[in-house]
Amino acid sequence: MIKHEHENHIIYQGDAIEILEHEIKDSSVDLIFVDPPYNIGKDFNGLKDKWSTDELYLEWCYKWISLCLKKLKPTGSFYVMTSTQFMPYFDIFLRSKIEILSRIVWSYDSSGVQAKKFYGSMYEPILFCVKDKNNYTFNSNDILVEAKTGAKRNLIDYRKNPPQPYSNEKVPGNVWDFPRVRYRMDEYENHPTQKPIALLERIIKASSNEGDTILDPFSGSFTTSYVAKKLKRKSIGIEINEEFTKIGLRRVQEMGELNGEKLYREPKIYEVKNFQQQTLFEPKL
Ligand SMILES: C[S@@+](CC[C@H](N)C(=O)[O-])C[C@H]1O[C@@H](n2cnc3c(N)ncnc32)[C@H](O)[C@@H]1O
Repeated sequence: MIKHEHENHIIYQGDAIEILEHEIKDSSVDLIFVDPPYNIGKDFNGLKDKWSTDELYLEWCYKWISLCLKKLKPTGSFYVMTSTQFMPYFDIFLRSKIEILSRIVWSYDSSGVQAKKFYGSMYEPILFCVKDKNNYTFNSNDILVEAKTGAKRNLIDYRKNPPQPYSNEKVPGNVWDFPRVRYRMDEYENHPTQKPIALLERIIKASSNEGDTILDPFSGSFTTSYVAKKLKRKSIGIEINEEFTKIGLRRVQEMGELNGEKLYREPKIYEVKNFQQQTLFEPKL
């Protein structure tokens, strides 16, 4: 295990279960967001996301879920993702241990590989849970979205007494439309399952306050810690893979170098081409 600490942001390189068990204090975290391996065969830089049986995958998940619940403050919130296939198991496992307040669908515009003989997968499920349904953070005013119905048409809500114009903002429902992170987007990092900044922004704004501590045990490209920092929260990120950890060190701790190796975001193919073209045809430097 390697620990990198800079100001209010801690990055651990190592195994999530080991670090949750030995490094994170019980009842110390305000918000946990977990986007684990989904057991669907993704390649995480050489680490295959596939267990030999579904039971072994679930056994492993139940271990880190239980640890996360221990680490959460009594007022804390827990967001957890997994593949559509396994979410029902997570749901049943969690129901007796924590309050599940919302079953969220993160819906997107493309399934990646186009399915021809079945319906392509266009969403990922997220459970939003709290330890105490009478005492938890939910900053609804910070995540309001446009209400597309009544307000746009200047309608009056006659169910209210006295009747009132419809509000033009509302708290989002449980179907969230955010595009997946694509290669050409500014936020793109070299990670196969990077989550969008906008998704984490909504979660962190709603379920934490400035100065709160946010934990992500499977950090990947460290989107959670990156957004936590932008929103003035403290962050703890765990990631087993060294290459992905380097993304976090650069993205969150703004490190330019690790053990003599320069840390930089790989230029995109078209950036390299543009640069080559510029230097070939406009050798002004
Ligand atoms: C679904 S990805 C997370 C993506 C992340 N939310 C993002 O926005 O980039 C899961 C991550 O868990 C990491 N991982 C797999 N097994 C792990 C373990 N035992 N402990 C810590 N991290 C692990 C993988 O390397 C991968 O980067």
